[in-house]
Amino acid sequence: MPSDSKGSVSRLLAAGLLQLLCSARGPPALARVRSQGSSMEAALKRELGTSVLRPTGHSGGGCISQGQSYDTDAGRVYVKSNSKAEARRMFEGEMESLSAILQTQTVKVPKPIKVIDVPGGSTLFVMEHLEMRSLNRHSGKLGTQLADLHLHNQKLGEKLKKEVNTVGKSEGQTDIQFVDRFGFHTVTCCGYLPQVNDWQNDWVTFYARQRIQPQMDMVEKNSGDREARELWAQLQLKIPSLFCDMEIVPALLHGDLWGGNVAEDDSGPIIFDPASFYGHSEYELAIAGMFGGFSNSFYSAYHSKIPKAPGFEKRLKLYQLFHYMNHWNHFGSGYRGSSLNIMRNLVK
Ligand SMILES: Nc1ncnc2c1ncn2[C@@H]1O[C@H](COP(=O)(O)OP(=O)(O)O)[C@@H](O)[C@H]1O
Ligand SMILES: [Mg+2]
Repeated sequence: MPSDSKGSVSRLLAAGLLQLLCSARGPPALARVRSQGSSMEAALKRELGTSVLRPTGHSGGGCISQGQSYDTDAGRVYVKSNSKAEARRMFEGEMESLSAILQTQTVKVPKPIKVIDVPGGSTLFVMEHLEMRSLNRHSGKLGTQLADLHLHNQKLGEKLKKEVNTVGKSEGQTDIQFVDRFGFHTVTCCGYLPQVNDWQNDWVTFYARQRIQPQMDMVEKNSGDREARELWAQLQLKIPSLFCDMEIVPALLHGDLWGGNVAEDDSGPIIFDPASFYGHSEYELAIAGMFGGFSNSFYSAYHSKIPKAPGFEKRLKLYQLFHYMNHWNHFGSGYRGSSLNIMRNLVK
């Protein structure tokens, strides 16, 4: 997730600022960082069972974690590190999300390897290193492959139906893992805040109770915003009317698909840093539309496979509400105005 509405530019600025802050702290902090670095590298060697562990000089940071690449006995890996108390839960969710996307064989993601606790505090997430550059040439292909990701579960459902109808094969014999509810088998974090992924039969219930309500509760706890509370009370009554005659098949989502979490290499597009769950495919396009980075070729390729259903634009706003509130709860009241505006427009 981006740290503010200017998206990747601010991400770069934030990384620069972070470096500046780090260097301004001077020698004592540097010594601490070095000693943390060596216990981190010892933990990596031990847990990966590698004799070689050579930093490649490729390092970077997203909005949430720091990252660095190493050469190991088993090839080049990318290691994200985070010292927040929630880091293990966050990285485990990312690992499970990457595994789930990988299994669909629809769009390239880094192969997840291991979550490691470093004695003394931080947590690491090791994955395959991919040589990435900005998404450009493969934008259209990302649209196609993202639609394939979203259609993957639906196709399993169709296959399952056929198999059940085939004489001599009962439901119990099939190995198809169709998912007929909304949720995920573990918590995933959009940013560092956990998402409630308990399984629900009904998408509207899932979205209202397990996406918006927890964000409202956090706002309530932090600032007790009366206007937000009142608008949400009105909006809840309105939500079902935004879903008239919709049949929603659970789709595996990336869950945090903004421009900073997509890239490409020679072979095609890459997506990373997911916060997956089974949800409404339209949800995925909400954050994509908030911070830019996706070209027309992406959208036209996507919608040629999954056309916009009536009411799409309003639901997109409803889905953006989650991300604005999630930003409000991560980064402060700079996102209050956008959150309240969406609710005001939707309750009209
Ligand atoms: N598997 C990887 N291989 C190489 N570089 C990576 C990999 N994963 C992330 N990166 C680099 O790190 C940056 C931030 O990664 P990301 O996972 O989005 O971090 P955050 O969780 O902090 O947002 C990416 O933009 C990319 O440059
Ligand atoms: Mg990211």
